Amino acid sequence: MKAFLSSLSIALLLATPAIAESIDKGDAKIGKTLHDKSCIACHASKFGDNGNKIYTRADRKATNKQQLTARVKACNNNVGAGWFPEEEAHVAAYLNTSFYNFK
Ligand code: HEC
Repeated sequence: MKAFLSSLSIALLLATPAIAESIDKGDAKIGKTLHDKSCIACHASKFGDNGNKIYTRADRKATNKQQLTARVKACNNNVGAGWFPEEEAHVAAYLNTSFYNFK
């Protein structure tokens, strides 16, 4: 858990405006497929329901596009999904259009 948290903060530090642009180029449909395959099970086991509650909880961690992209990157690295930056952008785009709605 410690390693997980420190990899999260490293990814947050590395988040740059360039990353925020790529979220706008992401394809939410591709992102949903990737996300449902690699990410739902763990979130569901930890946060209950269908796993999507984590994105709408009151104290959710991501508060803008950069942070959302950084969280996707951190979880990708942490679980070894092996996504490329484009795929992270697809997933971030999916999460943003479905749950976060950041402008
Ligand atoms: C092994 C379990 C696990 C897996 C697999 C997992 N996550 Fe997570 N994820 C977590 C935990 C635990 C948190 C909450 C961390 C926190 O509260 O700081 C989290 C938080 C997040 C958040 C931030 C939610 C918020 O508060 O705004 C995002 C976004 C996210 N995960 C995306 C993903 C993506 C994308 C994948 C698939 C590559 C993934 N996660 C796979 C455990 C996991």
